[in-house]
Amino acid sequence: MNERNNETLQQEYAVPEGIQDGKNGNEPNRERVILQMSNIRKSFGDLHVLKNIDLSVRHGEVVSIIGPSGSGKSTLLRCATFLEKIDYGEIIYLDRKATITSHSGKVFYTGKAEMKEIKKYFGLVFQQFNLFPHHSVLHNIMDAPVEVLKRDKKEVEKEARVLLEKMGLADKADSYPCQLSGGQQQRVAIARALAMKPEILFFDEPTSALDPELTIEVLKIIRKLAEENMTMVIVTHEMSFAAGVSNRVIFMDGGVIVEEGPPDKVFGDPKQERTKQFLKSYKE
Ligand SMILES: Nc1ncnc2c1ncn2[C@@H]1O[C@H](COP(=O)(O)OP(=O)(O)O)[C@@H](O)[C@H]1O
Ligand SMILES: [Mg+2]
Repeated sequence: MNERNNETLQQEYAVPEGIQDGKNGNEPNRERVILQMSNIRKSFGDLHVLKNIDLSVRHGEVVSIIGPSGSGKSTLLRCATFLEKIDYGEIIYLDRKATITSHSGKVFYTGKAEMKEIKKYFGLVFQQFNLFPHHSVLHNIMDAPVEVLKRDKKEVEKEARVLLEKMGLADKADSYPCQLSGGQQQRVAIARALAMKPEILFFDEPTSALDPELTIEVLKIIRKLAEENMTMVIVTHEMSFAAGVSNRVIFMDGGVIVEEGPPDKVFGDPKQERTKQFLKSYKE
């Protein structure tokens, strides 16, 4: 076989970047700051939902965000992913500034073309899977890489099938979302996010809509991604999962980060009274 053929073959069978199996596939590079959010403020009318939040996430880190309902967790993810506009602060992905705040306190978002590039850095998985109901599973996964990234359809399909296999759904490519269980739909949603090869994945209570058995199958997938050093921010109520999978746990309450640290510290030896109370309510 000549060198050229060999190269083509290797490309054909190459596992998409970022989803390799095993430890040596995607070594974490902690020097690399994927996301930096500084002094983030967000209000809805008089309601101050985020009060000067700082969040930075490095390559390969898994950060879990816990906290009572209404504490601003979803709003933080929605601001990070530009579904909500911040009132103040700075959001930077890698070295690209999505927002700056002027001295007078006015926030400016970067231009449309640059924003489009920045949006390629992240994926978001919601509680309600948000799949296209009238598209097959395969179509759901292929849609964004083909339509947004304008990538070659055949290549994208190959990668989509690898992702489905990885999600344990190889036989569901031609099914429609309504034919799948909630857990299967959520795994399709994860595959769809991964198909864009994001630098970072956000999950907003990915298992809240699922029964316990289905929850486990989704958490297993997220755990596997963590083992492969996928950078992730996960809002969750699954405390033992958060304890097991995260490098860092953030406890939010009332729009502020009350406490953060490694899971053994936050869960095992919380310093703040509010954290203790919150964790106690979970044990009861
Ligand atoms: N679009 C909105 N308009 C008005 N209030 C909102 C909106 N989104 C969220 N809120 C309010 O902001 C607070 C924080 O909400 P949220 O970020 O969803 O909290 P969490 O995800 O921690 O439960 C809540 O009081 C919620 O009612
Ligand atoms: Mg929420």
